[in-house]
Amino acid sequence: MTKKLKNHFETPSHLVISSGKQKLHFVFLAAKCIHIYTKECPKDLIELDEATETKLISITCGEVMTLSLGDDITCVIDKNLSFRFYRAGEPFFSPLMLDETHSGKEGYSKIRIPVDEDAKIYGLGDKMAQLNKKGYVYRSWNTDDPNHQDEQFMSLYKSINYLLLRDKGTYYGLYFPSTFRYEYDLGRYDSKHADIYSEKGFLDFYFFYGASPKEITSSYSRLVGYPYFIRLKMLGNNQSRWSYENETMVRDVFKQHKKHRLPLDYIHMDIHYMDGYRDFTIDHSRFPDVKSLSEELKKGDVELVTINDAGLKLDDQYELCATCTEKGWLGKHEDGSIYVGRVWPGDSVFPSYINPECRAFFHQKAVEFIKENGISGIWNDMNEPYSFTGELPMNLDFSFGDRKLLHEEYHNIYGESMDRCYYDVFEEFNRRSYCFTRAAQATTPKYAFSWNGDNHSLWHHLVLSIPQILSCSLSNLMFDGVDIGGFGSDTTKELLLRWCEANILMPFFRNHSSLYTRNQEPYAFDQECTDIYREYLNLRYRFVPYLYDLARKMATKGEMIVRPLFYNYPNDENVFEINDEYMVGEDVLLAPILGQGQVARAIYLPKGIWIDYFTNEHIEGGKYILKEMKLGETGIFIRNNTIIPEFTNLLHLNKKKIPDIVFHLYGEEGNYELYEDDGDSLNYQKGEYNLYRVSFKDGIFSLTLTRNRYHSPWKRVIIIHNGHVYEEKMKSKLEVNLQ
Ligand code: GLC
Repeated sequence: MTKKLKNHFETPSHLVISSGKQKLHFVFLAAKCIHIYTKECPKDLIELDEATETKLISITCGEVMTLSLGDDITCVIDKNLSFRFYRAGEPFFSPLMLDETHSGKEGYSKIRIPVDEDAKIYGLGDKMAQLNKKGYVYRSWNTDDPNHQDEQFMSLYKSINYLLLRDKGTYYGLYFPSTFRYEYDLGRYDSKHADIYSEKGFLDFYFFYGASPKEITSSYSRLVGYPYFIRLKMLGNNQSRWSYENETMVRDVFKQHKKHRLPLDYIHMDIHYMDGYRDFTIDHSRFPDVKSLSEELKKGDVELVTINDAGLKLDDQYELCATCTEKGWLGKHEDGSIYVGRVWPGDSVFPSYINPECRAFFHQKAVEFIKENGISGIWNDMNEPYSFTGELPMNLDFSFGDRKLLHEEYHNIYGESMDRCYYDVFEEFNRRSYCFTRAAQATTPKYAFSWNGDNHSLWHHLVLSIPQILSCSLSNLMFDGVDIGGFGSDTTKELLLRWCEANILMPFFRNHSSLYTRNQEPYAFDQECTDIYREYLNLRYRFVPYLYDLARKMATKGEMIVRPLFYNYPNDENVFEINDEYMVGEDVLLAPILGQGQVARAIYLPKGIWIDYFTNEHIEGGKYILKEMKLGETGIFIRNNTIIPEFTNLLHLNKKKIPDIVFHLYGEEGNYELYEDDGDSLNYQKGEYNLYRVSFKDGIFSLTLTRNRYHSPWKRVIIIHNGHVYEEKMKSKLEVNLQ
């Protein structure tokens, strides 16, 4: 029987193409994205923005069917329902959707994508790997492996099913929405194919075909949800350790930072503050009065963050455990008995945080705890979820209401479901959220930002910190960071400082280290170490207004704060594999030293003129340069003709107490739009923010307040240009002659 291609529209933007009994669905979504499936996966556990748009310009149907999508993009579908996308007549994406019988792996279905030998495949979140993942095998299955080292580890804490490919000169993106396990063979066994296996047989993905990595990643971010807008203070310095075990130790961290004039905004309290590692309890023998402690610190503009673990101590006298047991919210075996694993508190049970009633209960507990203790941030840990006794059984039952839910489906979204209990707790205090998480998936940044778990104080972990954070950033975890100095093992003064230099403009900046390791606070070594660390923290605090503007763009447009070079220079062949440099926004490039004893390195600067941040030297890009950088020196370059807004002389980011705004002018002309609000409350959602248009040209600097809805504390404008400093009173319209 000869098959015939047919099509019909379920809705104006949902096209169903059939051939014999087979069907292929194309749903046209907003922002250059098509949802494509033959076998759809359930999506009720995650929230996607599936707003549709009718993009189809025309369909022609004959031997094959041709869809025109505008922007020079067409898709040709044949009688077997194989399809191929073309840009300007050149093919770039032609996947094969192979069901269980054809996938070559029992029970799995497969999407097989032909790729060129030299294609690049980016994304997949926090894998311990270089940016380009072509040639390796990975798995989406949240995994806590404290000894993870490098590319041999297929999975880590997060499962982000997003790939950004560059093949035949064209970029495109793919997102696989199922929460079940996925496997990716990105050309390890056959360099001409990338194979993506779905354990449950789903043939379901979203395809993004924007013109650049920036457009594609923003479309993906829109679909899964833009990361939430942070507090200004969250761009400050976070100091942590497992653990500051009592009030005296926490106070000492605060005092030492003051004494050494080290900028600081948050101190983290790891599990020792709890009573027997029970969430939302305090060990009063160690912390007699957390409320007074937090108030005392707040007077000094430093706030406290406390950790929560996913597993609860099994203890019928412990209210949280007792309530969860009584309500039937805990993970159960098939025979109905409660599963007991082992985490820090010993025997532990695992709530079904995804159950709306259970979520509301934990939300309320957190609000009470924050009120009682004056806590400013929540840190969610061990939420892959993980038990020291091994993997939780796949058939563990977390069902709620009518929704049957087993661990195999819940696992990758467990962490996010925990984050969803807490992400809005600070709303009760009219504050933006401070909630961060170890386990995550693509939609998580709506609820929590992230850090990348238990790295080690090893030089190659410093090296990998850059591609790891950049890959997270590409995968929607745009506010992310690693433990500065390394978590496990003992750091050295040199490693700590090089780490601080290298990660200094990463979105989340936190020094954290494990129990039994050597202390690694900035003042833990010698005076030189403290001085260099301080210099870098000062540098970070100068860049905060620039980072804050980027955070705003992240939350409103899905634009990345830190970026691999190819994001800004998608057609520069020299940058596709650069793992040891990164860009912050469009205008700042970092190229740090990453090796022990190393004092010089080659740095690639893309085409154009770059200005060395430290020496003011103007350098022609489009080539490698060699730069000497002894300990305490790093590579920072600013794009010529740029304005960078800065703060000056700050130890804390309390917006009300910041009187000055600095504009650092590089080159001979530039434009900038600066955003300003109170940095902490949700009032910006009611429109309470200011915008300033700033420019300089022909020796004239001008500033115009174009939107005035927030009462600004800025009294002074400082302009820096070619080594000259100009100070002016803040006005809604300002013009300064720089000659
Ligand atoms: C986990 C976390 C780590 C924390 C420790 C103790 O290993 O990843 O950051 O310090 O647990 O709570």
